[in-house]
Amino acid sequence: MPIVFGKAPGKIILFGEHAVVYGQPAIAIPVTNVNATARIIPNLDAEPGHVRIEAVDIQLNADLDTLSDDHPLAAAVWLTLHEIAPNHTPSFTLQISSSIPMSAGMGSGAAISVAIIRALSAFLGKPLPDSKVSELAFKVEKIHHGTPSGIDNSVVTYQKPVYFKRDEPIQMLKINHPTHWLIADTGEKTPTRETVSAVRALHAEDAETYGAIFRKIGDRTEKARQALIAGDLTTLGLLMDENQHLLEDLRVSSESLETLIQTARNAGAAGAKLSGSGRGGNMIALASPEKIRQIETALLEAGAVKVITTVLREDKP
Ligand code: PMV
Repeated sequence: MPIVFGKAPGKIILFGEHAVVYGQPAIAIPVTNVNATARIIPNLDAEPGHVRIEAVDIQLNADLDTLSDDHPLAAAVWLTLHEIAPNHTPSFTLQISSSIPMSAGMGSGAAISVAIIRALSAFLGKPLPDSKVSELAFKVEKIHHGTPSGIDNSVVTYQKPVYFKRDEPIQMLKINHPTHWLIADTGEKTPTRETVSAVRALHAEDAETYGAIFRKIGDRTEKARQALIAGDLTTLGLLMDENQHLLEDLRVSSESLETLIQTARNAGAAGAKLSGSGRGGNMIALASPEKIRQIETALLEAGAVKVITTVLREDKP
């Protein structure tokens, strides 16, 4: 029995965070140079059905049956086993590793689930189609997050940019021109729950003003969808700047985010904004390929704790 691998990338939100909670659209893209990997090694010496899980990044080394069923790693394994319902489960060790920053709005949980589901279904001789992989990963997301939107599991499974609106089917965007992105981490963290409830409080106080901001963000996201498909850097950059100002109006920006955003713009980015829930976390910048290195250097000098660069490639004809 050979060793089997499963892999999935990270993700980042480009447009529409926060407003998406109020029914406006959002756009997210895969980040393919960070990955979660699951490796399955058959264990011929152990009794059948014995499953060991090793996840070095979180110092986990345990038998599957010692983890609670709603442990995210165990849940991904159990959901896959139930889906495939093998006549006999060979003994194996599941090794999980990931270069996707954790709790950073980069979809690391969803990517780990997808990697596990892919590896295990292949190991059992029945590789699952992407639609099923995404569905099972969504079930794991529900255990972690309660009411996930479904954006993370979709982006990381299909490795495609998605346009997402609450209660509507997720749409994959077909890209005609590549775009180059930088993702810089401020090193500060505020839980998503906290920023989402702060915005909720503002909206509850003044639904008219904040409702109008959400609609303006939605409008920028709609326009960005066209510009992203066409690879129109100038328009995308302007829309990012506008979206950032609207996020500042929602009070989810921060000094460290704004320092990095201004640094990226000064170093030649077409546009820059915070990404995800804000008040720390990541910012993103869009740039022409020849400017990527100089912006990366400037961001690190300005205090970014980590900078990831990624290319959103065009779809093959
Ligand atoms: O930081 P992330 O990628 O988990 O995104 C949070 C996005 C919000 O719009 C702020 C919340 C949500 O549930 O959509």
